[in-house]
Parts: sequence; C-alpha cells; structure tokens
Amino acid sequence: MNLQQDEQVQPGRGASVMEPTHGEKLHPAPPNRPASPASIPPALDVVDVHASFRERRSKLPVLNGLSLTVEQGEFVAIVGPSGCGKSTLFHIIGGLLKPEEGQVLMNGHDVTGQRGKISYMPQQPALFPWRTIEDNVLLAGEVASSAPPRAEALAEARKWLSSVGLAGFEQAYPHMLSGGMQQRAAFLRALLSPQELMLLDEPFSALDALTRSDMQRWLLDIWEQNRRSVLFITHNIEEALLLADRVYVLSNRPATVLHEVHVPFDRPRREEITEESAFLERKRQIAQWMREEQQKARLS
Ligand SMILES: Nc1ncnc2c1ncn2[C@@H]1O[C@H](COP(=O)(O)OP(=O)(O)OP(=O)(O)O)[C@@H](O)[C@H]1O
Ligand SMILES: [Mg+2]
Repeated sequence: MNLQQDEQVQPGRGASVMEPTHGEKLHPAPPNRPASPASIPPALDVVDVHASFRERRSKLPVLNGLSLTVEQGEFVAIVGPSGCGKSTLFHIIGGLLKPEEGQVLMNGHDVTGQRGKISYMPQQPALFPWRTIEDNVLLAGEVASSAPPRAEALAEARKWLSSVGLAGFEQAYPHMLSGGMQQRAAFLRALLSPQELMLLDEPFSALDALTRSDMQRWLLDIWEQNRRSVLFITHNIEEALLLADRVYVLSNRPATVLHEVHVPFDRPRREEITEESAFLERKRQIAQWMREEQQKARLS
C-alpha cells in the first residue's frame, strides 16, 4: 500500500492521499477525467468548515475544519461513519445551514449560506405527496429560470421515468410507491434539475442489491455522457469506488477528512473493475480505516 502526502492536492488539506499502486502519479488530475486548467476554479470548494448544533446549553460539534473539492465534471464520493456529519455538510453546501466558520465556494464564488445553487437529493426522498410522480419529477424544471415548455418537459420526464423502471407510475402519488421507487423518482428530480453541481445523499440506500446495481450502471452511463459535477454520499465502499474519481473518507463526529483516495480506473467504467486487485486493495484499505474509526468511537 502506497500512501503518501501530496502537496499538489488541495482537497482534504492535510488528509492522507492514496496513490495508485502502479507507482504512476495521478495528480493533479487522473487521466480518466479532463484536467482542469489552473485558471478554472473547482465546481465546489469547501474550505475549513466548522459547524455544531446547539441545544439549550449543550453544543454538539459536527464538522471540524472540513475541506474538500469537486473539480468541474468530477464525480466525488464521501464515505464516513454513521452520524459523523455527512448530511449536515450537504445542508451547509446547499445553504440550508450556515457554518460557524469556513466557506463554500462554487466556481470560485463565495456562496456560503446561499440556497438554490445545487441540485440536491436528500437522504429521505422528499417527494411532495400531493403531486403525481411525473409532476414531482417535473418540479425540477418548473423552478428553473429557463424552463422548457411543459409538453417538452413532460415528454422528457416520461422518457426518464421509463428508464428507471417507473413507466406506468407517472400518475401515481408518492404513497403508492415503494421506498425504492420513491428514491428513484427523487433521484430523477435531482438529475433533471438545471444546476450543474449535484449532491446525492445515499441515493440508492433503499434499493435491493439488483436494482441498486442497475441504478449504479445507469448512473455511470448518464454521468459519463454528461459529466456533471457530483458529490455523492454512500455507506457502500464498493459503490464509491465503482462510481467516483475520488473518495473522501471522513472521521467520526466532529467530521474532518481523514483520507482521500484516487480511483485510477478508465472510463467508461466496467463492472469487472470490482474484481481487479487495485480495486480490492482500495476497498480493503477504506474498510480498515472505517473499522478503525468505529473502534475509536467505541473507546471514547
Ligand atoms: N437539526 C439537528 N439538530 C440537532 N442535531 C442534529 C441535527 N441534524 C443532525 N444532528 C446531529 O448531528 C450529527 C450528524 O448528523 P448527520 O445527519 O449529518 O450525520 P450523517 O453522517 O449524515 O449520518 P448517517 O450516515 O446516519 O446519515 C448527529 O449526531 C445528529 O444527531
Ligand atoms: Mg446522513
């Protein structure tokens, strides 16, 4: 295992960086994504964010100087212990919460505390119960400033609904769908939102293994065609390594970036990479880091 600090890598400032095992350097940008010229700022730059929740007199620190970046068109995954502050980080990036310290920059602009800049799929699929599935999916376009005509948006939404196995449910209401189906509809809504940066909070967690694998394949395909900038939370290490260009491993609460792992596989990605030794090595290493965090949490 070849772990080393890398001064060129801004993300995760201070976190360890896992290099490809073949010895080649992947920085500043791995070959499987376009290198951003130095003049192009990252799609997202979270800088030294501190946050805590206050309840009466007690204070619960949740984020402890967390920094990360998502380059333009990059797919970045976050894994970390349950309750460490991942969803809170998304709320801060989305402007729903303000950090105590630190900044959120998008395309080089300070957007700390500003809403409406991201397309977001929350951990609990938040579909509006009074709207049909297709109207929920269409909502993404309706709130955009340059919305296409409804007929066009509807045809598009139906096409996408069919591609995630929801054909026939366009007129259904959310309560008539299973948890996994609701998750797919919420995912589509985020996908069809016009904002360039997508934040996906465990989008596939309610899906059975087979559907999850289908959705991963499907997400890989559309992402590889469109190259949106994506920040993706998952508890599934294999999913993180299969989909992402980089993986951040967070500590226990209050969360900070412990490790940053570059994922060197070419795109389009094939599922067979999950059997390659470089993949398995990273998977084992991340699992070990996570176990170490669990042990620390038990001891403290
Ligand atoms: N609105 C809130 N008020 C008070 N405490 C909160 C609030 N939201 C979250 N917390 C606390 O902050 C901590 C981090 O929560 P968060 O939901 O960000 O964790 P997470 O990493 O997303 O967990 P999981 O992996 O289980 O989804 C938890 O201890 C949680 O109880
Ligand atoms: Mg969460």
